[in-house]
Amino acid sequence: MPIVSVINYKGGVGKTTLTANIGAELAYRGKKVLLIDLDPQSNLTFSFIPVDDPSYQEGGTIKTWFDAFIDREEIIGLGDLIVRPRTIGRTLSGTLDLICSHLGLINVDLEFAVKLGGASQRQQRNNFIKVYSLLQKGLQTLLAEGHTKYDIVLIDCPPNFNIVTRNALVASDFYLVPAKPDYLSTLGIEQLNKHVEDLVSEYNSYIEKDPEGYSTIAPELLGIVFTMIGLRNGQPISAQEHYISNIRRVGLPIFDTKIRENKTIYADAPQYGVPVVVQRNSGETYVNIRKELQDLTQEFCGKVVLYNG
Ligand SMILES: Nc1ncnc2c1ncn2[C@@H]1O[C@H](COP(=O)(O)OP(=O)(O)OP(=O)(O)O)[C@@H](O)[C@H]1O
Ligand SMILES: [Mg+2]
Repeated sequence: MPIVSVINYKGGVGKTTLTANIGAELAYRGKKVLLIDLDPQSNLTFSFIPVDDPSYQEGGTIKTWFDAFIDREEIIGLGDLIVRPRTIGRTLSGTLDLICSHLGLINVDLEFAVKLGGASQRQQRNNFIKVYSLLQKGLQTLLAEGHTKYDIVLIDCPPNFNIVTRNALVASDFYLVPAKPDYLSTLGIEQLNKHVEDLVSEYNSYIEKDPEGYSTIAPELLGIVFTMIGLRNGQPISAQEHYISNIRRVGLPIFDTKIRENKTIYADAPQYGVPVVVQRNSGETYVNIRKELQDLTQEFCGKVVLYNG
């Protein structure tokens, strides 16, 4: 059962939009999907839950879960936090579950940072492993419980590379990077990849010293998904094609499917709690955009199966 983080510390590149749409399309195809919102902005949460419906917080949010560790060093069950959004459920043959985020999550990184110190190198190492593997442990426990079977877990990360995002990576088998094809985004992708590699080698070097109860990690880059593409005659405009080629030259995997820019259609979707890919609207533009998202999901499945054996 693969766990996939959707990351990019560049903001506004389509992380949440792709998480919501890939998750919804997989659930539409009959899969059991768990989405986790790790961003204090809570955009994924409010893509499925009406903003004026406080009931989603009743069982707690991911903040409640991180707080239990920060306050009491306790890892509580993630299962209690799961909600099943009502708006989208009717359209699916599978299921789509969500662990919601909370605005207060913004302080968690700072509070975590305090936990990372230690008087000796050994203590620092142990604290590092304990803090960074928190979500991994939580998910392992959740998924080991018989009643919560999922085919896939997708984690929507905040636009940074702080401790919460690192938790997602440590917990993940794969990561997917949405990006815009422009100069700064292209620079950012290489830096991001380097940061992931550094995290993995530091984490694994600590695990190798103190292996008990922990294992080494190897999150694999599923690929870059280029989003917000401007099309001319069905092809990306040449300036954008140039930046896509640059990334290809560096040797990073790129999804064949590209996601075009359409402010109108993407802007509205979260308000209705139903991602574009499973909306019913007819009209050529809608159909074409849905086709892109379906193709992307198909490619996503192929890569996950391929790498997962
Ligand atoms: N293909 C697209 N074309 C046009 N607008 C889009 C597209 N995809 C997403 N958007 C819009 O762009 C904005 C940013 O998208 P989204 O929230 O998915 O990005 P993000 O990477 O999750 O942002 P953040 O880093 O803030 O979490 C949103 O308003 C969304 O509706
Ligand atoms: Mg987002």
